[in-house]
Amino acid sequence: MSTALTNSESWKALEKHFGEIKSTTIKTLFEEDKNRGTSLLVKELGIYFDFSKHRITDETLELLFKLAESRGLESKREAMFSGEKINTTENRAVLHTALRAPKGSIIMVDGRNVVPDVHEVLDKMADFSNKIRNGSWKGHTGKPIKNIVNIGIGGSDLGPVMAYEALKFYSKRALTFRYVSNVDGSDFAEAVTDLQADETLFIISSKTFTTLETMTNAQIARAWALKQLGDPSAIARHFVAVSTNEKEVIKFGIDPQNMFGFWDWVGGRYSMSAAIGLSTMIAIGPDHYHEMLKGFHEMDEHFRTAPLNKNIPVIMGMLGVWYNNFFGVQTQAVFPYENYLKRFPAYLQQLTMESLGKHITLKGEKTEYQTGTVYWGEPGTNGQHSFYQLIHQGTRLIPIDFIGFKESLNNLPPHQDYLIANMIAQGEALAFGKTTEEVRKEGGPEQLNPHKVFEGNRPSSAFFLDKLSPENLGKLVAMYEHSVFVQGVIWDINPFDQMGVELGKVLAQNIIPELQDKQQTIAHDSSTNALIEFYRQ
Ligand code: F6P
Repeated sequence: MSTALTNSESWKALEKHFGEIKSTTIKTLFEEDKNRGTSLLVKELGIYFDFSKHRITDETLELLFKLAESRGLESKREAMFSGEKINTTENRAVLHTALRAPKGSIIMVDGRNVVPDVHEVLDKMADFSNKIRNGSWKGHTGKPIKNIVNIGIGGSDLGPVMAYEALKFYSKRALTFRYVSNVDGSDFAEAVTDLQADETLFIISSKTFTTLETMTNAQIARAWALKQLGDPSAIARHFVAVSTNEKEVIKFGIDPQNMFGFWDWVGGRYSMSAAIGLSTMIAIGPDHYHEMLKGFHEMDEHFRTAPLNKNIPVIMGMLGVWYNNFFGVQTQAVFPYENYLKRFPAYLQQLTMESLGKHITLKGEKTEYQTGTVYWGEPGTNGQHSFYQLIHQGTRLIPIDFIGFKESLNNLPPHQDYLIANMIAQGEALAFGKTTEEVRKEGGPEQLNPHKVFEGNRPSSAFFLDKLSPENLGKLVAMYEHSVFVQGVIWDINPFDQMGVELGKVLAQNIIPELQDKQQTIAHDSSTNALIEFYRQ
């Protein structure tokens, strides 16, 4: 059992403090401090981060920062940025921050400055993207490429598809983008149903280039292309790879000239700013892509240098710990009031849950406290007409991140005012609710009054930016990446491995031949055996 965290002075101080303030309401906190709404606020990098509607006091924050210090957050953060092998279970450095380091920076891994390597790949991506965008890259029959199909899964899909959707406004509309991830024939079939192979480029995105789903889809894509194009030499014009595994890329038949590399110090779910972003760069162009990287880098620097009490990812991460470990919350909702961010919650699910879903500490002991929270969400206002009821009047406490922008990318008055009014109103309603007296004043049958009361006291953060630009998207993604890191440090777990996804993969490999060969004897548990039998019939 790991007790170092829960036996620590700073944890015990938080426990005591929690006992004292757990019944204090957000409403009372606002009544006691008329400036709360502008004092529990950080304005940095063009982000207005309002964390006043949380069940915290100044003392809570002080104690949370003390806990962060006592867990060595600052030195661990520096260890990550400077390339130490903090992914101890895989003996790897963790340097997604190097992917957006400006030219000329020096970041050493095993005695080598990796920044020039990063920029060499970025330049190669830019050159290729320009060729696709200006039509000078010709397909096998001499036609320019019109369609780009990214084949990948997990971090090799969720980042690219989220970024493509988020930055669609900036994308070249003459190009069509499709994303295939699932090992379900329907995903591939629907993605290519209206495409011609001689105008289509497949980007096979896989860090390992061995992932079952991706390699199965890549093989079927090759067969689909060959059926139309006939000639195996056509593959070179229609398939490129993004990977760390050159050997497997060559084995698949992709020319290493057409491979865009990255490195083992980039985790899959942290690879959106690596070459995994190739489809994003083709869509929005190298200049916009570099703006996105600039946003990532600005947030990296903010996280690295800002004092803890002004540090957005630190505050977010510590609020996560506060709710998770003291209030016992189980889920965290993320509601972007920006339709282009519709895939952002899905992207965050892998980032947060694959990173923080661990119950073994770095020392190999079982945690005796809860770790990773369930992240979920949908764009506002759609969620309001779906699941917000449970957040307002249900029995669970669900902290929320609201994300909104002052300017819409598509100015269709009065939409933006309506949208943002709803975002602000939801935070207000959740925090302050509606009392029995207020309900009574409205009139109506007395027996319905209890149903109309809103208890309030439901916490939320508001993130407000000027508009959804590539740079701001970079900032937002890096902000969540680093808040995950903060939580990982407090819980003493490794946010950079994902061993929990292995067992299911291995068992599937055992079951595949059992489904394909009905004569094979099967020896699982009675439920698994029966499911296999049912499929076989
Ligand atoms: O789901 C496990 C995982 O390893 C993720 O971490 C990763 O993003 C995904 O599979 C895809 O892996 P690859 O890029 O190697 O195909």
